[in-house]
Amino acid sequence: MSNFNLKKPYRHFLDLATLTRGEARDIIDKARALKIIATETGHGKGFIHPDRPLADKSLAMIFEKPSTRTRVSFEMSIHQLGGKAIVLQGNDMQLGRGETVADTAHVLSGFVDAVMLRADSHDSLLDMAAHATVPVINALTDYSHPCQIMADVLTFEEYRGPITGKKIAWSGDGNNVAVSWIHAAVLFDCELTLACPKEFCPPTQVMEWAANNGGKVTLTHDPAQAVEGADCIITDTWISMGDSDIDARIAILAPYQVNRKLMDLSNRDSLFMHCLPAHRGEEVTGEVIDGPRSVIWDEAENRLHAQKSILIWCFGK
Ligand code: CP
Ligand code: NVA
Repeated sequence: MSNFNLKKPYRHFLDLATLTRGEARDIIDKARALKIIATETGHGKGFIHPDRPLADKSLAMIFEKPSTRTRVSFEMSIHQLGGKAIVLQGNDMQLGRGETVADTAHVLSGFVDAVMLRADSHDSLLDMAAHATVPVINALTDYSHPCQIMADVLTFEEYRGPITGKKIAWSGDGNNVAVSWIHAAVLFDCELTLACPKEFCPPTQVMEWAANNGGKVTLTHDPAQAVEGADCIITDTWISMGDSDIDARIAILAPYQVNRKLMDLSNRDSLFMHCLPAHRGEEVTGEVIDGPRSVIWDEAENRLHAQKSILIWCFGK
């Protein structure tokens, strides 16, 4: 594992698999420190970091898909670090009319200091990174969602201490969020067991990557087996942005719902996490997601603190 941009004065944040273990740990620790600074000032949402570490830096945020958390947390992050965000909808750009990602990358690199992209296709993200001369950040693709998992790790550790050696269980679709959790399990050296139906398992190459990098990542089709001894149970929507065959997906994924019965098979003090948006009654019951073991609101808020740390890391600060 190495970051292929290490020699440049900036770094892309494309996937957790492109980070070293040390880099991933530093980003989490810095996020925690940034959260403490923000909370201790008492300025609430109006907080501006006293050092303005990203003063005069600008971030273009491109969305080819909808977003609530990512959009707001990134815009607030760069603002609180002293910089400025420009929000762009892919379809409002010439990108939506066929201008190439490469040309867009060249042009934006002349205007802004960093580009954040929520892309339909992971290839577009890689294309943007290959042609931009500023940091590019993955704000979710069809393949992965690394920013989310940094917030998730931060949240887990706030509640349960170091994640290393802990047991995390995933029940549901082996989707983009699951892929980033597989990467995280390797980087943070925790156990991860995913319960997914055979139709919706994570990509084989990702499982192989985990095995080749010493990951304790296992795949089962049995949710009960996955959650046994788990310190945290995670799920995500059964219908990700861009998915079709909705009825078929719901039918196949129904046995993977996180409900009280499943939570009761895990450790007594296990947490429940979900990146949101959630669909109560589908991948999780209202009783669980709104219950005492759910940490979803802290998880969502921690996007803000994780994103700040990611931005600072991208600029090599
Ligand atoms: N979890 C997450 O990325 O949420 P948004 O789609 O609202 O950004
Ligand atoms: N898997 C979901 C995550 C949303 C934040 C999706 O891609 O739609």
